[in-house]
Amino acid sequence: MNIRKIFTLMVCWVSVLSGMASITWTEVEPGIWKGIVGTPEDYNLLSVAGCKPSEQGFTRLPQVALPSLASQITADIRDGKTNISIPLVKNEQLYGFGLNFQTVHQRGKILNLHVDHYGGKDTGRTHAPVPFYISSDGYGVFVNSARYITVYAGSGARKDSPNAPVAKDRNTDKTWSSRPYSDAVTMVVPAPGAEIYLIGGPTPMDVVRRYNLLCGGGTLPPRWGLGFTQRTQKLYDAAKVEKEADEFERMGYPLDFIGLEPGWQSKAYPCTFEWDNGRFSDPAAFVKRMLDKNVRINLWTNPYVSPASGIYEAMYPLSGSHTVWCGIVPDLAMPEARRLWKDKLEKEHVSLGVSGYKIDEVDGYDFYLWPDAAVFPSGVSAEQMRQTYGLWVQKTTDDIFRKNNTRTYGLVRASNAGANSMPYVLYNDYYSHKDFITALINSGFCGVLWTPEVRSSKSAEDWLRRFQSVVFSPMAMINAWSSGTKPWSFPEVADQVKEYALLRMQMMPYWYSEFARYHFDGIPPFRAMNLEPGFSLDSAVRAELQNSNLDDNPYLEAVTKEIKDQYMAGKYLLVAPMFEGETSRKVILPKGDWYDFYTGDFVGNGSTIEVTPGLDKIPVFVKDGAIIPMMEARLHAPAPGEKVDLEIRHYGKADGNYRLYDDDGVSFDYEKGDYSWRDIKVERQKNGALKGSISRPEKGKPDTVGKVTWKFMTKNS
Ligand code: GAL
Repeated sequence: MNIRKIFTLMVCWVSVLSGMASITWTEVEPGIWKGIVGTPEDYNLLSVAGCKPSEQGFTRLPQVALPSLASQITADIRDGKTNISIPLVKNEQLYGFGLNFQTVHQRGKILNLHVDHYGGKDTGRTHAPVPFYISSDGYGVFVNSARYITVYAGSGARKDSPNAPVAKDRNTDKTWSSRPYSDAVTMVVPAPGAEIYLIGGPTPMDVVRRYNLLCGGGTLPPRWGLGFTQRTQKLYDAAKVEKEADEFERMGYPLDFIGLEPGWQSKAYPCTFEWDNGRFSDPAAFVKRMLDKNVRINLWTNPYVSPASGIYEAMYPLSGSHTVWCGIVPDLAMPEARRLWKDKLEKEHVSLGVSGYKIDEVDGYDFYLWPDAAVFPSGVSAEQMRQTYGLWVQKTTDDIFRKNNTRTYGLVRASNAGANSMPYVLYNDYYSHKDFITALINSGFCGVLWTPEVRSSKSAEDWLRRFQSVVFSPMAMINAWSSGTKPWSFPEVADQVKEYALLRMQMMPYWYSEFARYHFDGIPPFRAMNLEPGFSLDSAVRAELQNSNLDDNPYLEAVTKEIKDQYMAGKYLLVAPMFEGETSRKVILPKGDWYDFYTGDFVGNGSTIEVTPGLDKIPVFVKDGAIIPMMEARLHAPAPGEKVDLEIRHYGKADGNYRLYDDDGVSFDYEKGDYSWRDIKVERQKNGALKGSISRPEKGKPDTVGKVTWKFMTKNS
């Protein structure tokens, strides 16, 4: 009998003693099993998000058996709450539990998953407190409940546990710990039942992919969404916005969409959703003029309805008992409330050509939002409404654009499980560059996107460092709502900022294909090193660890440490941001040969390197055999159907392959099959030279590839 089996028998016995029952698992999607405890509530995260699993995507994942720990997961209902216990083994690491800002390793944490504005500590109160975690052992657990769930992520140990830590004498034993090893994750769901999903791997990356596909696959932004965006200062009028867009063009900085912050509406906090006649006397003409400049308009708003809004009276009976800044709170769980809000936004903005929204203030703080005692006419509790309000605003606005067969890409300050396919990026008011990178890493574990937005800086150095990071993120943005900054605000580094803004545009074919992988295959475009092969504490790495001397193998030592300041961007790139005051940093390279993104030079293999890039560069490294398709540096994304010349870069010595994604870039026709993948290959010829090829376009499918040139970045490759 193996250890897991003995453990299972003992757990069953313990369960009988404690009243905890094991769970019956039913496979609902390939490699995903559902277990029901008690009577789960009908109102849950997935039902609100309304996502449909991406069946096609699952066919490209390996088959996997029910994780062996399934029989050891137990649950009971006491005191009106559902308690779930999932066993842990020694050395297992946990990732996820939503959008954390300071930590990637979650084992040992106690969290209360609660939608809120991030308050500076990883407590579970965050913008996307997704109740999903991934084990380094290659399985994941998702609890589909819209309640404030308390998580003991490996904290506490049962006196009768077969796998309990041993007592140590603090007087004499240096290894004594105030937090001894814990044998389980415990989750307390304040409801008389819960729906649990047990997600198989075999690798942590496969777990994340399955979770993303369960939630409909990742969002595929319009091409223009991956360009550059500037949010103008509050109280700007039409003339100022237009002047700013003209300045971008004149100075040669790219700009695909501009965000209007408070001031475009007649009243804000709470909002009317109606244009301010003074600042925008002819909104339709303004939006059109901007579109003629190739710059789309995104509108800031919060959903709280001002007494001065034309929809106030009709919304009144469809709103919650409490107000936010004296505005009523639409009960978006009611179809009539959604329709009313949607019609208003459509009539006032989308029908004029507005391309998207930034939906603010749907997260917290408690001081602003409704108390947990508030009542909503739909009967949904205030707690559930808090956990899902971000999902509702995303879904409601997404529906407007879907109906018009036009993609959008915007911002939202709260989200939760199930929002994976919604075209929104999270942001907040916190401003630690380092923690923004950790949030970017964690976003990849929980099916949301995050932007380390740039607002203002005390120094040119900080400005450039932040800018370099945001260029390697889901939304390249300056949010100047308060500061009024522009990309060129620090003249000392204005050229370097321009270079990186243009690099973002050059890399659009890569970014777009990587988002297609997110959509079709569930692979997060921005993600932790822990999702890279051999970089997680999985069984293979653990076996290697046991047999090696860490001093001799610094790579393995690095793997056991928390890595929260470097990340993967797409299939091939490793990004290691620099922070203000730093002139050098350590970068941990996974196994395999790695090359410098800018020069193509070899930098290391499975090692920790020290880099001193200078202020001009953010360190970026590329895997051997990588293929990065790039286009010319433009100021705006290509128009639908426009042919674009490509420069295809190859790095290293190995043969390479890449799949370039193509569609019209703006509509949902890709959901009906109107897209294509082009196979790019670089192969070594008999004469020893590398040669690139790209497959022909499929007949009748989108084809925007113009002239192709090849660039072999690594000399003597
Ligand atoms: C904040 C938001 C900022 C900005 C500001 C405008 O709540 O996080 O990004 O939009 O409101 O008042």
